[in-house]
Amino acid sequence: MNVNLIRKDFPILEKTINGHKLIYFDNAASSQKPIQVIEAIRKFYLEEYSNVHRGVHTLSQRASELYEEARSIVAKFISAEENEIIFVKNTSEAINLIAYSWALQNLNRNDEILTTLMEHHSNITPWITLSKIKDLRVKFTKVKSNGELDYEDLESKITNKTKLVTVTQMSNVVGTINDIKRIAKIAHEHDALVLVDGAQSVPHMPVDVKKLDCDFLAFSGHKMLGPTGIGVLYIRGEILEKLNPTMSGGGTIKNVKWKEAEKTCIIDWAIGPEKLEAGTPNIGGAIGLMAAIEYLNKIGMENVRKHECELVEHTIKRFNELEKTKLYGPLNPKIRGGIISFSVGELDSHQVALILDQFGIAVRSGYHCAQPLHQILGAKQGTARASYYIYNTREEIDKMIEILKKVEEIA
Ligand SMILES: Cc1ncc(COP(=O)(O)O)c(C=O)c1O
Repeated sequence: MNVNLIRKDFPILEKTINGHKLIYFDNAASSQKPIQVIEAIRKFYLEEYSNVHRGVHTLSQRASELYEEARSIVAKFISAEENEIIFVKNTSEAINLIAYSWALQNLNRNDEILTTLMEHHSNITPWITLSKIKDLRVKFTKVKSNGELDYEDLESKITNKTKLVTVTQMSNVVGTINDIKRIAKIAHEHDALVLVDGAQSVPHMPVDVKKLDCDFLAFSGHKMLGPTGIGVLYIRGEILEKLNPTMSGGGTIKNVKWKEAEKTCIIDWAIGPEKLEAGTPNIGGAIGLMAAIEYLNKIGMENVRKHECELVEHTIKRFNELEKTKLYGPLNPKIRGGIISFSVGELDSHQVALILDQFGIAVRSGYHCAQPLHQILGAKQGTARASYYIYNTREEIDKMIEILKKVEEIA
């Protein structure tokens, strides 16, 4: 993996911000895009654009071919089948889709959903909202003070009323990588299904839905070199077969027939993933995501993970030189992704981010849509978060450490 060569594909990294060369450490929020992805989208709109599925003319056939090729590339990337891949807007929409289709259709009063206190709000709020509609109970697995999930607590909270265990594979705050295989085993022993929030894991490490043995997986294109507005929901085939759409319309049906005798329409839903893709999909987005996956495949996801492990190891080592800076999460790079959240003395996290920005370093600050986790970690002022990707280097981390030493002087 040649980071210098990779960086050439991302012209934005040459940009000067506040008089300094940009150091982009906000990848957990959204990644930058390589020229190859931008070109694929440009080519589609300039030369191949048309709507999909409903046209017999050449351009519509071509657009359909590309859209379905994207589905197939996504499927291979996570070792799923093509007909198990639904294109959505993002991870949030994917989780909501499961809440308002599978869960709404299958869960009953007093059923339980087990999640964790490590989740992004997108994997908390849909369940709380649904629990009020259907009178369900949402339970939360504890997180240890070192940012690891408390598996014993998870096991003690699962019951025969638990119908879904929904958990992130990688925390977007402390970077913890959760043992999904272990969680899936526990869940399936109780006949509960498993939803994995892969927003932070799928872009950064090999993910195989068969090996994980999960039932649903959600992720976003924009965090993995792809464009905004396109995400993926994997649904295990036999579950998808029995699911009825809650958002329906064009594309989701096989037949809509007028029954004169009954004075109404009788609907036959489509069989495949399209039954959950109402209306014209984000065709350009899917094509951009396909180019992003092809780019990542060329590097190899094992190499992406290895590179980020090295960056994490380097960061943890260099953070030892800081006196007032507190690093959250596990110190073992083997169970941690390239996400580093920290606080400097009593300084507000936004203040830390603003100072780093003066030196061209883009980090996120606040609660990163995971307020309960910050409460548990005791990070009242929020945290500053540096999150890495394929184009980040040790030198960039070193520069951040030097600035943090200066920040400590005013903390
Ligand atoms: C773990 C996790 N889940 C869900 C989301 C929501 O992703 P999106 O905003 O693309 O829907 C994020 C975004 O940061 C995330 O980090």
